[in-house]
Amino acid sequence: MLLKDKRAVVTGAAQGIGRAIAQRLAAEGARVAALDIDEVAAKAVWADSEPGRHLGFACDIANSKSVDAVFAKIGEAFGGVDVLVNNAGIGRGPDDGSDEMYAGIAERSAQIARGEIPTAHPDQMIHMSDEGWARVLAVNLNGQFYCARAAVRLMAAQNIAGSIVNIASTSAASGEGPLHYVTSKAAVVGFTRGLARELSSRRIRVNAVHPGPTNTPIMSNLPDDMIKAMEAAVPLGRMAQPEEVAAAVAFLASEQASYATGSVLTVNGGSYYV
Ligand SMILES: NC(=O)c1ccc[n+]([C@@H]2O[C@H](COP(=O)([O-])OP(=O)(O)OC[C@H]3O[C@@H](n4cnc5c(N)ncnc54)[C@H](O)[C@@H]3O)[C@@H](O)[C@H]2O)c1
Repeated sequence: MLLKDKRAVVTGAAQGIGRAIAQRLAAEGARVAALDIDEVAAKAVWADSEPGRHLGFACDIANSKSVDAVFAKIGEAFGGVDVLVNNAGIGRGPDDGSDEMYAGIAERSAQIARGEIPTAHPDQMIHMSDEGWARVLAVNLNGQFYCARAAVRLMAAQNIAGSIVNIASTSAASGEGPLHYVTSKAAVVGFTRGLARELSSRRIRVNAVHPGPTNTPIMSNLPDDMIKAMEAAVPLGRMAQPEEVAAAVAFLASEQASYATGSVLTVNGGSYYV
């Protein structure tokens, strides 16, 4: 077991990659707190587990008061934190121009297929509201900062050589995807590298994982032809399963990765980006 007797926190753990990570860390011997904006689903992750061993909490990671309150409860229940996985993330915010962008992509493809010179554009930014931009940055970037700060306060209080894994995305390198999302994920890489240096004297390691397209509910927002094109562009020819991303996270969280900090592990089926 890679994480025997460790205490772990996973955000966005109610479904998709986060749920697979929470279950993998538990299988590796950790006690795990599953955080999600959806409280019922966060608690349901542990429906088949030994009662009381793992916990589920409601938490909006974009709200630092919500984050601090939950970490206080976890500190009491577990007696500390050894591992944080910053997984929760969103691809859309309110009035963020996504509908206009996807309509523009579809219309442009149709024009090209009809042999016309395309006049439609995949515009997102010109339709994006302040709120749409801010919400995606608040969850994907500020949320990682709030959770890391709360976790490191607990680790530092007990001089724990912990491990933080931040979920970014291949989008950070390729630029593919909604503009606020790409921006937030690129920022996560800078956050990871900077924090890794800052925390190195405490022996707390900080790494990131870049999943490529992964078969989770977030993908159900995307049009079918876009999913097909995405899969066709991956050398392995398919999306990842959430468990394949979770395996990389378990490695980085564990002492098996004792010399890895400030690094990005790409799990994307072989797509290459400079
Ligand atoms: N699925 C992919 O193809 C893919 C690719 C690259 C990166 N990622 C990243 O992996 C992570 C997980 O993605 P997923 O596909 O499993 O997504 P998902 O939408 O299936 O699950 C995300 C979870 O986060 C929760 N969540 C959303 N906002 C929250 C908030 N403010 N506070 C707490 N919880 C919140 C949701 O309720 C949900 O349970 C995200 O950071 C995503 O950007 C996913």
